[in-house]
Order: sequence, then structure tokens, then C-alpha cells
Amino acid sequence: MTEKAISQKNRLMQWVDKRYPLTEFWQKHLSKYYAPRNFNFWYFFGSFSLLVFVMQIATGIWLVMEYTPTANDSFASVQHIMREVRYGWLLRFMHTTGASAFFVVVYLHMYRGLMYGSYQKPRELVWLIGMVIYFLLLIEAFTGYVLPWGQMSYWGAAVITSFASAIPYLGEQILIWLRGDFNVSGVTLHRFFSLHVIAIPLFLAALVFVHLVALHHVGSNNPDGIEIKDKKDKEGVPLDGIPFHPYYTVKDLVGVVVFLFVFSVIVFFIPMMGGYFLEHDNFVPANPMVTPLEISPVWYMTPFYAILRAIPNKLMGLMAMASAIAIMFVLPWLDRSRVRSIRYKGILSKIAIVVFVISFIGLGYLGSEPVSTVRTLLARIFTITYFAFFLLMPIYTLMEKTKPLPERVTE
Ligand code: HEM
Repeated sequence: MTEKAISQKNRLMQWVDKRYPLTEFWQKHLSKYYAPRNFNFWYFFGSFSLLVFVMQIATGIWLVMEYTPTANDSFASVQHIMREVRYGWLLRFMHTTGASAFFVVVYLHMYRGLMYGSYQKPRELVWLIGMVIYFLLLIEAFTGYVLPWGQMSYWGAAVITSFASAIPYLGEQILIWLRGDFNVSGVTLHRFFSLHVIAIPLFLAALVFVHLVALHHVGSNNPDGIEIKDKKDKEGVPLDGIPFHPYYTVKDLVGVVVFLFVFSVIVFFIPMMGGYFLEHDNFVPANPMVTPLEISPVWYMTPFYAILRAIPNKLMGLMAMASAIAIMFVLPWLDRSRVRSIRYKGILSKIAIVVFVISFIGLGYLGSEPVSTVRTLLARIFTITYFAFFLLMPIYTLMEKTKPLPERVTE
């Protein structure tokens, strides 16, 4: 840029800054936000979540331009998008693959928090807001899945809304209130459409913003789980901190290229992922007179579905399923360890986290398979170990011997 152009740009920025704190915002959250210098692979997934969120909104906007949210026309309008709209197939596959990708990156993002104790003081709110985001994401995915009005859309909606009927006394009333009709119908479809395209995304966008404001208020954790703010230089800059921009913006950009490469391979070559991303039965129009042989949710909900099925009593099963999500909300208060990161925790925490991962993946697999005696037994064992990980945490994190923390972050 020439000197004249630079001075013009500076004058413009001064004009804006007098009216809006743009430079202040940029510095506070990017160029002077000091992030620990030891971020590793696991720290990519926050930015990936942000990227997928934006992608879902963008592809969603274009899909809505051609989609019709009525029981008569919905299925056909999706076929119209796939066959007649230019690049409609691409938009739809990006959106369906995006839904699964969202859960892949969010689960890995949450797992990172679990490993490095990012939910511990002072980041409890960052975790709590994250959990609200996660809960809303589940509802967003469920309402979206109903929209193509295929067999799985219809019967999935029927099964999930029917859970409400297990609530004593008020169950039936709540069920009708949720569906807006005596059965799942076009009325249900229309309200789910409204929730999916506007209500939930609006809340999600606001919550993601609050999630990041909360994080930047307390500062990022890191794989060592020590506070970089404890050691600062004369200017008050953390000795182990580096400006988020340009260091991590550039690093994340490299990750984004790799992520988009993998994402494209799936979109262009295996968009259905063998029935895991798009179930086969959903290519058949909704028919209230024919129940599919096997009704199971998409993979990211199957761990909770397996817990529900593992318990013979409907109400108890529902309560267990709800508790499996609710218990993650109180995680910051279950961990009593003196250290944050799994690197410095004792052997019990290490065994517990391995058992937890096996249980969660095991439940996910079992929830996507038809029931059998052996599978139900396994699902019961995994349900117990899943809850044991959380409920015994106050005991094993206090009991075990932790390793001494380093003075400064390690590479
Ligand atoms: C739309 C979904 C989400 C988006 C866009 C998002 C975005 C981000 C970003 C950009 C960061 C900072 C970079 C990083 O540390 O990776 C972050 C940090 C964090 N997020 Fe999320 N997040 C989402 C969901 C969640 C969920 C579901 C949880 C957990 C329940 C969660 C918990 C955390 C925690 C604990 C941190 C701080 C990590 C640390 O400092 O070590 N987030 N998030």
C-alpha cells in the first residue's frame, strides 16, 4: 500500500473507532488475545465447530429457497432440489454431511475439554454454555431430520415425541401440545420447520457468541492445564502466551484446508456414509400406515437411545436418557482434582476416561443395531460404566495421587 492509501485507511479507522470500538474489539479478541503457545491438535475443533455452523446456516438459507414445509409437498420439494435445482444436490449433501460433521467436531471439542479439565474453575460457565449449545444442537438436528418427510422423518418424530406420553398425568396433553395434533402431521412438520430454520439457529448464534465472550474473559486453558496468566512479563503479557492473530488464525487455516478436503471427499463420494449420515428408509416418502422394521436415530443420538432401550421401564428409561445428558452439565462440580489436565492426574482418572470413551462408543454402536439379548446386556453394562464415570468422579479424583505441575507450559 502507498503512504497515501495507508493514511486514508488510518483516517477511516479513526472515524469508525470514534463511533464503534472496532479496533478495540479486534485487539481484545484477536491481535492482543494471548493464547497459550502449546495448543495441540485437539484445539482445532473449536474453530471447526464455528466453520461448520456458518456452513450449515449458508447451505440452509439456499435450501429453504426451494423447500416446501407441507406434508403434501415436502418430500417432492427435496427431490426437486436434488434433481432439478442447479447444484441443489451439492447444497443438500453439504447440509446433511454438515449435520454429522457438526457432531463429529463438537464431540471431539467436548472430549478435549474433558481431557484437559477445561470445565474446571474458572471456566465453568464456558462449559455450561457449551452444554446448552450441545442440547440445542440435538434438537436442531432432530427437527431438521423431520423436514424431508421420509419414513424415518415421520416415524422418528412419532417415536421421539411419544416419549412425552410417559410423563405421569400430563403426558398425553404434552404430547398433543408438542405435535400440535393428535398424531404427527403436517402441523407438526410446520412447527418443526419454524424451530429448525429460525428459533434454534438464532439462539445458537447468540450462545456461540456468549461462549466465546466467556472464554476470552477468563482466558484459554491448554494441554498442561496450568494458568498462563500467572507468569507475565513487564508489559503484563503472559510469558507463555502468543497473540491469537496471526499465530492461531494461520494455524487454524491450515487445519481448515485439511478439514474441507475430508469433508469434500465425503460430500462427493460417500454422502450417505452407508446409511449412517442419511438413513436408507428416509428415501421412502412418509407413510403413517407402514411402520419401518427398525426405527433408530442418526448415529450422534444412538448412545442415548441405547441407554433408553437398556432399561425395561419406559419412564425409567426416559429418565436415565435425560440424566445421561443432564449429568454432563454438572461435570465442573464433580471433578475435585487439584490439577486440570489428564497429563497430571492419577491412574484412576486415566482408567476412568478410557472406560468412559469405550462406554460412549459402545453405546453408540449398540443404539444403531437391532436389539438382542447379548446387545441388551452389553448396553446395560455400558450404561452403568457411563454413569459410574461421572458419579464416582468426586471420589477417584480426590483419592488419587497427582503428578507435580510444571512451572511453565511444556511443548
Ligand atoms: C456450535 C458449537 C460450538 C462452537 C462454535 C464452539 C466454539 C469454540 C471456540 C472457537 C473455542 C475456542 C477455541 C478452542 O479452545 O478450541 C471454544 C472453547 C471451548 N469450548 Fe466450545 N464451541 C461449541 C460447542 C461447545 C460445547 C458443546 C462444549 C462443551 C459442552 C464446549 C466447551 C468449550 C470449552 C470448555 C472451551 C475452552 C477450552 C479451553 O480453553 O481449553 N464448546 N469453543
